[in-house]
Amino acid sequence: MPAELLKGAGRLSGLLEINNVLTTGGKLRSSFEQVLEILRNREKISRGAIFVTNPLTGKFRVVASLGVGNVRTTENVVERVIESGRPIVVPHTDQEPLLVRYKRASSGNQSFFCVPLMTGRKTFGAIEIEVSFLSERDYEEDLRFFEVIASMVGQALKVDRLVDSERQRLKDENLHLKEELRERYDFSQIIGTSGPIRSVYEQITQVARTNTTVLIRGESGTGKELIAHAIHYNSARARRPFIKVSCGALPDTLIESELFGYEKGAFTGADTRKKGRFELAEGGTLFLDEIGETNLATQVKLLRVLQEREFERVGGIDSIKANVRLVVATNKDLEQAILEGSFRADLHYRLNVFTIFIPPLRERRTDIMLLADHFLEKYSSEHGKKIKRISTPAIDMCMSYHWPGNVRELENTIERAVLVCEGNVIHGHHLPPTLQTAEATGTTPSLSLSDAVKSYEKDLIIDALKITRGNRARAATLLRSTERIVRYKVKQYDIDCSRFRT
Ligand SMILES: Nc1ncnc2c1ncn2[C@@H]1O[C@H](COP(=O)(O)OP(=O)(O)O)[C@@H](O)[C@H]1O
Ligand SMILES: [Mg+2]
Repeated sequence: MPAELLKGAGRLSGLLEINNVLTTGGKLRSSFEQVLEILRNREKISRGAIFVTNPLTGKFRVVASLGVGNVRTTENVVERVIESGRPIVVPHTDQEPLLVRYKRASSGNQSFFCVPLMTGRKTFGAIEIEVSFLSERDYEEDLRFFEVIASMVGQALKVDRLVDSERQRLKDENLHLKEELRERYDFSQIIGTSGPIRSVYEQITQVARTNTTVLIRGESGTGKELIAHAIHYNSARARRPFIKVSCGALPDTLIESELFGYEKGAFTGADTRKKGRFELAEGGTLFLDEIGETNLATQVKLLRVLQEREFERVGGIDSIKANVRLVVATNKDLEQAILEGSFRADLHYRLNVFTIFIPPLRERRTDIMLLADHFLEKYSSEHGKKIKRISTPAIDMCMSYHWPGNVRELENTIERAVLVCEGNVIHGHHLPPTLQTAEATGTTPSLSLSDAVKSYEKDLIIDALKITRGNRARAATLLRSTERIVRYKVKQYDIDCSRFRT
């Protein structure tokens, strides 16, 4: 076979090999490195590099190279090729003024090819190749060969960028969706994804933008105040004040002047005029917590504000307009209170326009883990601790406990655990005793008191015997009891001491 044909066949199989490398996927950078490796094996190139321009900055940089060391010295040539979109061939590097700096770095008589990576008219990189000078080399032919390789590399790069931009598009879309969700669901610090809490989010969204009075009901610690905040901060009044009044904490004699303010001289000690909470909340939201605790006289006044949207200061005659959105909360059974005569039915009717009911934590157990993790993070950083997680048994304990104090109790529990935890994991023994017997307290107590005491006593004795490897005298010392009693109990509970001796 003539030499020319032999060479052509060899190059064809080289191109096939390169094509394989470029189309099998994987990291582009390593594919490009393999391409240069193939060229070294087949074409005996002494040096090579692939440059790619950054579509945003227009700057190019090396993404793959072979026989490095003096790559940077050819930068001006590469730049020219990328700018013009035309290849440069230098048969004798020693004679090319463009490669002056390069000359010093390379050794021997070298030929240099630099070919642009292009699609259509756009250049987005270049390949440079260096081979030793051969007088019989066909530079036209070699250039055509390297141009074919450049177009394959360019194609691979283009595909990769398309995939990349598709990935970016998906990322952007995802971000956008998340943003939308956040707008819908991120009400300050509310955690939870359970069905009941999601329906609470929906209700907040529905009502926040309106001026409707909202009644929030739920057991103590379920997050009523948090919801009241969320309503305010998601309303058009968000930039105006959010004022809270704890009706249960104020004595009957003070509540009216707190709510409505007073005029100078309204009563002994009123030596200046004072604004009430209704006035302070002007343009914003007034949150009346524990509304079920207000007395009947105050209820009448509140009813009037709700009906007429105005009020008077204590001891005053002028009516003051109230541009205030009312959000009220209670853990009381208001219907029952009406029956008992401690809550006015007409006020209830006015308040009961839009009611949000927050279910107790035990009815949305899927939120327990999320909340626990949230509080773990919050209090770990607050107390400067590096606690990473909650152990599975501790989580189980939290999951089976009935949380009568709801989220507030869970929050306190985790904060306490963070404080007493010395390692980086919260364990069962970091949780309070009420949770230790979670199974028993989960529903109705399943053991009688004396049975529970017995079982606890038996556990204590077994633990002590484990420590002392079945030695009853030492177990008695540990338990600060007597050997006689321990022997008696061991017999009573039918504990086999021999099994602790190993
Ligand atoms: N869904 C929740 N996500 C995060 N924290 C919550 C959540 N619900 C309640 N909390 C927290 O639990 C504690 C008690 O909530 P709070 O709104 O005062 O309850 P309530 O007013 O119903 O007694 C607060 O510290 C609050 O931040
Ligand atoms: Mg509260």
